[in-house]
Amino acid sequence: MITASKPDHDIKDVKLADEGRRRTEWAERSMPVLRQLAERFARERPLAGKRLAACLHVTTETANLMVALQAGGADVALCASNPLSTQDDVAAHLVRDHGIKVFAIKGEDHTTYYEHIRAALAHRPDITMDDGADLVGALHMIALNRLDDLAPPVRKWVETLSAAERKALVVGVAGSTEETTTGVIRLKAMAKDGVLQFPVIAVNDSDTKHLFDNRYGTGQSTLDGVIRATNMLIAGSTVVVAGYGWCGRGFALRARGAGANVIVTEIDPMKALEAQMGGYRVATMAEAARVGDLFVTLTGNVEVIRVEHMRAMKEGAVLANSGHFNVEIDLDGLKKVARGPVAVRDFVEEWQLDGKKIFVLADGRLINLAAAEGHPASVMDMSFANQALAAEHVVRHAKTLGKDVHRIPGELDREIARLKLQAMGVAIDMLTPAQKKYLASWDMGT
Ligand SMILES: NC(=O)c1ccc[n+]([C@@H]2O[C@H](COP(=O)([O-])OP(=O)(O)OC[C@H]3O[C@@H](n4cnc5c(N)ncnc54)[C@H](O)[C@@H]3O)[C@@H](O)[C@H]2O)c1
Repeated sequence: MITASKPDHDIKDVKLADEGRRRTEWAERSMPVLRQLAERFARERPLAGKRLAACLHVTTETANLMVALQAGGADVALCASNPLSTQDDVAAHLVRDHGIKVFAIKGEDHTTYYEHIRAALAHRPDITMDDGADLVGALHMIALNRLDDLAPPVRKWVETLSAAERKALVVGVAGSTEETTTGVIRLKAMAKDGVLQFPVIAVNDSDTKHLFDNRYGTGQSTLDGVIRATNMLIAGSTVVVAGYGWCGRGFALRARGAGANVIVTEIDPMKALEAQMGGYRVATMAEAARVGDLFVTLTGNVEVIRVEHMRAMKEGAVLANSGHFNVEIDLDGLKKVARGPVAVRDFVEEWQLDGKKIFVLADGRLINLAAAEGHPASVMDMSFANQALAAEHVVRHAKTLGKDVHRIPGELDREIARLKLQAMGVAIDMLTPAQKKYLASWDMGT
């Protein structure tokens, strides 16, 4: 039988728990939709007897989701989905006050990060919950016997398991949920290749997730992360936003609101046109590189800012990423041609390139989670209401959901919007019978 074989948590310091509890309670005040779900979960226990492994940013909002899932009956293990995004006080609070198995330490190295993924897998989940598909990715490398593609801590552990145990680990997962765009793209690629081993609910695809979390959450918290890391004045600066998807739209809006001249770079003509008509200047990265003061990538793509762009940048240019992985700025290329890095402030590193200095924030990792606190609780309220409902949906419909990437049913998505409006004290009109009839007809009022 597979056992966790190591202690049931690995966190920085349990003595930080009081601070984590206070901050988690503060976030909870702004999460009324999740609160209602947690209350229903406590009554109905839809996740009773289920083991759930989550790989999410360990923040105050995630803490409230974990507590809601536990209220629903789940036995929860949590690891980080990014080495820099853990709030150590929150991890301590979850362990001490809720007995949740947390494996996450802010700033953990590559080995520890994957040792924590291993610990989450060793929980033998019935349901996994990912932000970037790390748990599901590892489970699929096990299923496909591609052990060389596993990070060493996971591979070593898997090698100790018998073939039957490995199979049980994968077959035991009734379904999974995925939080972010990059994870959903990967999972859809797996489904297309016919290798997906269980159903996945793409939480990111819910309207109450990407329309709000990616746009307003990433927009605000990315600007917050840049400002906390650098204390730079945004007003009057030139901010280059790479990618005008949901996150890019939100960040461009906030940068403009703070007084920046915003330039958008895109590869999709429709998005570029939308940015142009939204009043932004649209340019190639090669053009933008020469004039930008701050560059932020939000594309989910690799090598968006390359060495040739960095060579063209002005003295003092600041580079940050808010896309899921630290692959958008070519830091490997920079390391080959530049001198550095020199740490000048927390999360700010200076590089000398062609006789000038450029600054990279948070090692190219998600700036909003590394240097700030991630998204405000009010927006995560909806994202995590989706996560909680997705977990319940997996349990209820495990037998009928195919091995594919699914959306949460539209009526649940709209119900989350309705509850959020209600909590905000906003009322909306109802269709009159005449309006209903008109909208369903093709021959009235022409
Ligand atoms: N920082 C956070 O907290 C946070 C929150 C949500 C999502 N994300 C991540 O942010 C990334 C973007 O998410 P999204 O929901 O906005 O995705 P999206 O698909 O809506 O937008 C991505 C945009 O980038 C563009 N793009 C791709 N390659 C490009 C390139 N080389 N140059 C310029 N533009 C390019 C695409 O055309 C698209 O318009 C993903 O990695 C996602 O996982 C981060």
